[in-house]
Amino acid sequence: MLAYQSGFGNEFATEAVPGTLPEGRNSPQRVAHGLYAEQVSGTAFTAPRHSNRRSWLYRIRPTSQHEPFALLPETSFHNRFDEQPVTPNQLRWSPRSLPTTPTDFLQGLFTVAGNGGAAAQSGVGIHVYAANCDMTGRYFYDADGELLIVPQQGRLRIATELGILEIEPQEIAVIPRGVRFSVALLDGVARGYVCENFGALLRLPDLGPIGSNGLANPRDFQIPVAAFEDIEGDYKLIAKFQGRLWSAKIGHSPLDVVGWHGNYAPYKYDLRRFNTIGSISYDHPDPSIFLVLHSASDSPGVSNLDFVIFPPRWLVAQDTFRPPWFHRNIASEFMGLVHGEYDAKAEGFLPGGCSLHNSMSGHGPDAETFEKASAADLSRPTVITDTMAFMFETRAVLRPTTQALAAPERQGDYWRCWQGLRKHFHPTAE
Ligand SMILES: [Fe+2]
Repeated sequence: MLAYQSGFGNEFATEAVPGTLPEGRNSPQRVAHGLYAEQVSGTAFTAPRHSNRRSWLYRIRPTSQHEPFALLPETSFHNRFDEQPVTPNQLRWSPRSLPTTPTDFLQGLFTVAGNGGAAAQSGVGIHVYAANCDMTGRYFYDADGELLIVPQQGRLRIATELGILEIEPQEIAVIPRGVRFSVALLDGVARGYVCENFGALLRLPDLGPIGSNGLANPRDFQIPVAAFEDIEGDYKLIAKFQGRLWSAKIGHSPLDVVGWHGNYAPYKYDLRRFNTIGSISYDHPDPSIFLVLHSASDSPGVSNLDFVIFPPRWLVAQDTFRPPWFHRNIASEFMGLVHGEYDAKAEGFLPGGCSLHNSMSGHGPDAETFEKASAADLSRPTVITDTMAFMFETRAVLRPTTQALAAPERQGDYWRCWQGLRKHFHPTAE
């Protein structure tokens, strides 16, 4: 079992070798054990204290020590969101096939959609991954955004500069912008989703009238303890920088941080710990009630990214259509399914699959779900078990990539799921 620290955005302090962390100062003239001191800043130096994120790392070598980066050829992991006119059609994809040739986490990333970009420091990239081997001798960092990793199949062991995270389906991990890491597959194969957040750092939402507890509780976020690799060899450091991948030779593992303190660190969270809140009288609250983490934009109350989940829950509202309602929305909604079934769709939305409903594109339950829910007995609760769907919701339109529109997994007949909805209008009936 790995050890973790707990809390969200706290000041953490951890050392893998006793006596590493300096006392009373961040960069003493000489660091214990012959280490280098290096700060990593995830927010502007002058960001307000409550949102300022930085950590001090005490490491065997500074991160500047590597050979020059060279541009790599284009891959399926990119930020080219403007190659196609954006369709207002509802889109859905079946789960991405697992690879048949050796493919690590980084090679297995496939960009589905996105908006904005690293240059503007706003927007998101949405990717899926399917992999069948470990990253061996390869380390990666994303300078363009933090990475929200949502596994759907297979556990991941994510070794980072600041320590090791292990996650399984129904857990998530967030790797901060710039932090070096390498991914091993604990179950041989892995599949899931990644949201690359170009905007403000993800944080817990304010709770307003909900009060001081609820939704994702801060103490359930787990932060790794310091762990380091003191190894030398012929390794590659891959950087994602302004939408492209670059590779540099590095003669040692960059995961060589022996101790660190600060509040800029990777973390994991178990979605099954989410405190789900809903109506106990009538009607649905908006899905924002299921908000786990969000990235704020410059407009108050409007997110660059909302990460929302649809976990197991009881629906008890009376005289209410209980599944998610029909709606349109200025925001754009990318959905994925980690586990089980989603209560608004009878079929076609599979674990590992995804859907995209862009701004003002109508969507909602399919015909079968509508008929069933309209006739349901509301004297008893509807208990939804064995499910974990999620949404990456953004203020700007999500532009699908050329490769996603052409992918064999795309369900060209998705639109048909609403065609069976019957006309029930009778102007003279009660
Ligand atoms: Fe929706």
